[in-house]
Amino acid sequence: MKNGSDVIVRPARNVRGSVSLPGDKSISYRYAMLAGIAEGPSRIENYSTGADCASTLACMRTLGVAWERNKDSGNAIEVQGRGLALAPPAAALDCGNSGSTMRMLSGIVAGQKFPSEMVGDESLSRRPMERVITPLSAMGAQIASQGGKPPLRITGAALRAIDYTMPVASAQVKSCLLFAGLFADGETRITEPLRTRDHGEVALRAFGVKLDRRSSGQGNEIIIRGGQRLRGIEARIPGDLSSAAFFLCAAALFPGSQLTVPGLLMNPTRARLLDVLMQIGLRISVTQLDEIHGELVGSLQVEGAGLKGATIAGADSAALIDEIPVLAAIAPYTEQGIEVRDARELRVKESDRIAAVAANLRLMGAQVEEREDGLKIPGGQALHGAELDSFGDHRIAMAFAVAALRARGETVIHGADSAAISYPAFFQTLEAVTER
Ligand code: S3P
Repeated sequence: MKNGSDVIVRPARNVRGSVSLPGDKSISYRYAMLAGIAEGPSRIENYSTGADCASTLACMRTLGVAWERNKDSGNAIEVQGRGLALAPPAAALDCGNSGSTMRMLSGIVAGQKFPSEMVGDESLSRRPMERVITPLSAMGAQIASQGGKPPLRITGAALRAIDYTMPVASAQVKSCLLFAGLFADGETRITEPLRTRDHGEVALRAFGVKLDRRSSGQGNEIIIRGGQRLRGIEARIPGDLSSAAFFLCAAALFPGSQLTVPGLLMNPTRARLLDVLMQIGLRISVTQLDEIHGELVGSLQVEGAGLKGATIAGADSAALIDEIPVLAAIAPYTEQGIEVRDARELRVKESDRIAAVAANLRLMGAQVEEREDGLKIPGGQALHGAELDSFGDHRIAMAFAVAALRARGETVIHGADSAAISYPAFFQTLEAVTER
């Protein structure tokens, strides 16, 4: 039941049905940007329905890229690529709530012959941008910011290739620098100490770019030569695994649940969630594994069973960064609880997700230990419904809709409309698969 931006979630008895997810957000952004700088048209089906990926498309239009969207035909977008040279924007590039759009697109505008201004909403205006400012400046771009935060004023330049080791494990930064590397003179080398999602590399290859990858004791090194031209593609984006996480965790809450998820992204750099959920007790089988433009896609059959516990730390925390809020939200219902370490990055997402999860769990009556870099949530706890806040953060709104399914009494989520940032149909879809 929905009232303005409040949503009331009632407890459920079971989760059953089939969920087809809109296209993966991480792939959607990258395809929209690369289609814009490719030569020739691209047609991309199952583009993300979220407001974030609409922000990317709006920015591309401001940079002179023509595109059309057909919501009746599988959410397809058709993009007329302009090649590497975009048009000077007549207005600021509005990235809305999307850190990914601002960080990745900064790598493309840094290589243009004109200045651009990138702005965002209140949440994005608080998020750290030095992680792209420092390496892009080393490549020769001039970037002014508000103490390392948006708005960014980027004066593009003929870029120089760099050899850069990323201090923060961030796929957004890696993609930003690979995109900038297309405009650089020579070979740009990027080393990531912890392996992050590789959609940037996979997408660049899909558009015809050659990349090299080397793994060593220092981490994962990716090498891109500047001046390569991209060609448009026809593609279908697999279902968003991070959106599927909410339904998979909802299924995990009920021993009798049964869920089918067709056409889901199964990229190994994203699929750690499935291992953790299986370890917790969910039964998952994968049918019909395929590959589309280098991305694995599969159909899942899921059955609830027990709910043990888990520890998420080290490389797993980076790999599961977007799924930790919902895993933490179901943690009290597990037998042994869930401990999250090495996830300090959660504090600088769309909200401070460590604080937001702790605050909402406490309002539902849970005992929670909040730490600088994570959370320790004991298992075996019974929660009650409560009045919660989304903190304007899509993943917090959705995570607590899931937690509310096993609470005693109703839960009200204020600011639940923020779910539309990644998944506008979330609440209707959740309602459709819950039994009461
Ligand atoms: C993303 C990378 C992650 C993730 C974000 C999407 C991407 O951010 O949290 O939702 O598409 O590359 P970081 O790069 O900051 O880790």
